Amino acid sequence: MIRHLPDSIINQIAAGEVVERPASAIKELIENAIDAQASQIDISIADGGRTLMAVDDNGSGMNADDLVLSVERHATSKLNTDDIMAINHLGFRGEALPSIGSVSNMTIMSRDPADENGWMINIKYGEVKSIEPSSRQKGTRVVIEHLFANLPARLKFLKTDRTETAQILDITRRISMAHPAIGFTVTDNGRQSMVLPPKPDDRRARIRDALGAEFTDDALLLDAKRDQMTLTGFAGMPTFNKPTTGGIHIYVNGRAIRDKSLIGTTRAAYADTIPRGRYPVAVLFIDLPSVDVDVNVHPAKAEVRFKDAGVIRSLVINAIRAAIDSDQRTSGQLAQTALGMASHQSGASRSSYWGGHSSSRGVSQPSVDWQNPARYIAGLLIDDMAPQARLAEEQQDIPHPDRGDNSASDDTHLALDYPLGAAKAQLHKTYIVAETKDGMVIIDQHAAHERLVLERMKAQRQERGVVSSQALLIPEVIEPGAAAVIILLEHAPMLAELGLIIEAFGDGAILVREMPAILGQTNIKQLIIDTAEELLERDSSHSLEDRMEHVLATMSCYGSVRAGRPLNANEMNALLRDMEVTPRSGQCNHGRPTFVTLSLADVEKLFGRR
Ligand SMILES: Nc1ncnc2c1ncn2[C@@H]1O[C@H](COP(=O)(O)OP(=O)(O)O)[C@@H](O)[C@H]1O
Ligand SMILES: [Mg+2]
Repeated sequence: MIRHLPDSIINQIAAGEVVERPASAIKELIENAIDAQASQIDISIADGGRTLMAVDDNGSGMNADDLVLSVERHATSKLNTDDIMAINHLGFRGEALPSIGSVSNMTIMSRDPADENGWMINIKYGEVKSIEPSSRQKGTRVVIEHLFANLPARLKFLKTDRTETAQILDITRRISMAHPAIGFTVTDNGRQSMVLPPKPDDRRARIRDALGAEFTDDALLLDAKRDQMTLTGFAGMPTFNKPTTGGIHIYVNGRAIRDKSLIGTTRAAYADTIPRGRYPVAVLFIDLPSVDVDVNVHPAKAEVRFKDAGVIRSLVINAIRAAIDSDQRTSGQLAQTALGMASHQSGASRSSYWGGHSSSRGVSQPSVDWQNPARYIAGLLIDDMAPQARLAEEQQDIPHPDRGDNSASDDTHLALDYPLGAAKAQLHKTYIVAETKDGMVIIDQHAAHERLVLERMKAQRQERGVVSSQALLIPEVIEPGAAAVIILLEHAPMLAELGLIIEAFGDGAILVREMPAILGQTNIKQLIIDTAEELLERDSSHSLEDRMEHVLATMSCYGSVRAGRPLNANEMNALLRDMEVTPRSGQCNHGRPTFVTLSLADVEKLFGRR
């Protein structure tokens, strides 16, 4: 027997989709207040929103008739044409208030300025209990008490009060960034826990208030346009990364969305500048004609569908990449970070840099002879100088630091003018120390070289469509395991494009015929195993291009034959000159810095002279 469901049940079903948790109710109420042109929105909650949530606005308000309609299903003031694609408000489904009202004790107080007095309506778990005059002066206040008390099963799914509160703060912060002119406050159990003062016409100021200065002050400005679409906002420095995608904020026509594919696109834009398992921070505003995007694909309006997703994808990727590539500060900022860590080790506020590798990569505080810093540095250079560094000194007649000799040769003089300066020594077969006009640079030769190899392979691909390969004198047979064989052979055409020619070889083995030429002598077996692992990890949800980039990054690691290898002065200087002309050479393929610059002023600070 087929029956029509009663409204109360229909509303509860809708509530299941629209109101997943307290934060989703808050989101709907904030959106309603924004649609009502409020300039101030004050939120208060108790016990993670479980017992109480109230949203107060100074917007247009409602009269008694509107109040009654507002809690009825599919009643909205926002879709007045009959075209579902012409959406100019955040709301349009007319579903939120009736849904919330069906799963809570909800009271709405509001006043239409044209009326003598305000009105108030109360609806308890789906039933309108009263509508009566109220003392409300302006705008609307919606109070939700005991959410889900009629649905114990839903209640059980809620997390701890702290988690639910964090979600509420997060959604408020998220929405606020698209509306800088509106002030927001959140009061939690009587304590004001978030205040975002109105910042009319100043999106950056609002984002700074919402996400903090550390992100905003260094973030790269985005401003790209294609046809009728624009992308504006801020892309965080690759070094400012997080362990989750929570720092990626995406807005489509002012609506905060959580779209998996756009989050993936944002990550792809940062590919190979951020360590594995870390995610960028970015605030992206995509604006396009409302007919080119369908926002009606998700009950909570968290996802959208674009008419032309490909164009959006390339707009986002190109704009972010261009911003990262053209930024001069990338390495400068890293140096400051390193310096900051040197003077106050593993400062908590800095921990988001370095992808969590801070302790292993940070510059550790040397035990300094405070009486005579110059002598300390000189001692460091002489005592720890690798034999090949001495050799470099002999070859190029590099002045000895201990002699205070400044009569450098012409070559050195010229090199001093380069951004990365003149190589002076190699330490621990790993670090190159170079002197620049106004300070010094320490280069991680392995990280830097890995980057150069990657960029060169990418350039070859761009110019010729493939990475140049070289046939092995004796093809190598490798048994990397059954799963690895399958995934490698599946990707054989792609790998060929990257200069790696493989074929099946009996059961459970592959034959490597050619290798990317630039890699030279390398551990082929380990390279193949790592490549297979990389491919297994990136399933089909990642685009082919994405997979290729990661495989390239993995391979370039094996090309860095110079890791731990002694370098003479010419080789060191050649590496520096190479880095200067290579895009993104300030970071290794894992997003860590390849060099750190210390100005003389920085050094003086280190020694407490400033
Ligand atoms: N804070 C508010 N101020 C003024 N009007 C409101 C407010 N909240 C809701 N309304 C009115 O109630 C209607 C129903 O709200 P809602 O159920 O959220 O659906 P929608 O926002 O999709 O229209 C809105 O269309 C609007 O006219
Ligand atoms: Mg709404």
